[in-house]
Amino acid sequence: MNRLIKALHSPLTTAFLATQPLYLSAPDAVTLVRRLGFQKCIAGMAQNIRADFLRWPDFDKSARVANHSQGGVIELMPISDDTTYSFKYVNGHPQNTAIGLPTVMAFGVLADVATGLPTLVSELTLTTALRTAATSALAAQTLARPNSRVMALIGNGAQSEFQALAFQHLLGIDTLRLFDIDPLATAKLVANLSGRGLKLQVCTSTAEAVQGADIVTTVTADKACATIVTADLLAPGMHINAVGGDCPGKTELAADVLDKAKVFVEFTPQTRIEGDIQQMPADFAVTELWEVLSGTRAGRDHDDQITVFDSVGFALEDFAALRFMHEAALVHGVGERLALIPQMADPKNLFGTLQASARRIEPALNGVSCT
Ligand SMILES: NC(=O)c1ccc[n+]([C@@H]2O[C@H](COP(=O)([O-])OP(=O)(O)OC[C@H]3O[C@@H](n4cnc5c(N)ncnc54)[C@H](O)[C@@H]3O)[C@@H](O)[C@H]2O)c1
Repeated sequence: MNRLIKALHSPLTTAFLATQPLYLSAPDAVTLVRRLGFQKCIAGMAQNIRADFLRWPDFDKSARVANHSQGGVIELMPISDDTTYSFKYVNGHPQNTAIGLPTVMAFGVLADVATGLPTLVSELTLTTALRTAATSALAAQTLARPNSRVMALIGNGAQSEFQALAFQHLLGIDTLRLFDIDPLATAKLVANLSGRGLKLQVCTSTAEAVQGADIVTTVTADKACATIVTADLLAPGMHINAVGGDCPGKTELAADVLDKAKVFVEFTPQTRIEGDIQQMPADFAVTELWEVLSGTRAGRDHDDQITVFDSVGFALEDFAALRFMHEAALVHGVGERLALIPQMADPKNLFGTLQASARRIEPALNGVSCT
């Protein structure tokens, strides 16, 4: 029997368990991704994200709620359509790695809109890396020059391999030019990606890494208004996939890069607060990715244009990723039912769940039946 269920005192019926949410732990997510294969997983997630961007008006959307502290941020990201609700809890603490914790940790929930019943409780740390990479690649498929083969990857931490492989599988990137201020992070990335058919070129600076790159991915973590990419590093036709500037006071692109580019965002109200465009005037022109995907507005206008995807991560991507993981988990029998909602014969008798425990325990303790 399920170990979570066993830990509870009350005998639980099969019918009751069937109503409980599926729990997908971090090891379960690893099992699932391994079983599906990375390529299938990233492609499936990108397909779900595209499909959900294409029905943008169906969603009840809001900018995420962020609680800031000196070292980082904790955010809640809710979204729903007519049938399904999701939220993600996620943090961003760039100093965490120095004490052995990831910069980004997350978990999330899917729930049934009609009843409010949670249907999935899931890890989202691994899933966030996958959905972020899938979203980046989806945006680049739409915005980068179609013959892009070389990508500079600045910031070689937890997200970096996911970005690299998503761009290899979904865009045909064959060469990566790598830079991180921490050479050990780059060495880790090289070790993880060797033997996967990518040409890996380790560089000694961002300026060196971006030379000859068709696409520049910045995925650094620093709670600072950084200028990883400056306008003098730009070449005609470059696409910049800016992932790490995702919080007030945390940017990666110099303002003159944004001035020279056509800028694309996920959800404008959120990106104006959190994205690299936070340093631009409130009316700085942007195009939302869904508009380009749906053909409502133009993407890249010509081959020489600089395009920027100012990514901050939007709840719709987690909604799509959670649904992907949920469906895959059910198909592959991964995860277990989590006894989250009290079992009640009479749903108005919540207090009765306490009475039932008391009936079993009291006689043993006091010799008195509590009925
Ligand atoms: N846009 C999104 O949807 C999204 C999703 C997930 C994470 N993120 C952001 O992506 C960033 C990276 O996340 P992670 O989990 O890989 O973090 P991480 O801490 O594991 O890795 C970040 C790397 O950036 C490097 N770095 C810092 N400053 C640098 C600089 N000036 N030049 C080059 N390298 C530098 C660090 O040495 C580190 O290796 C974070 O800022 C995170 O908030 C964004």
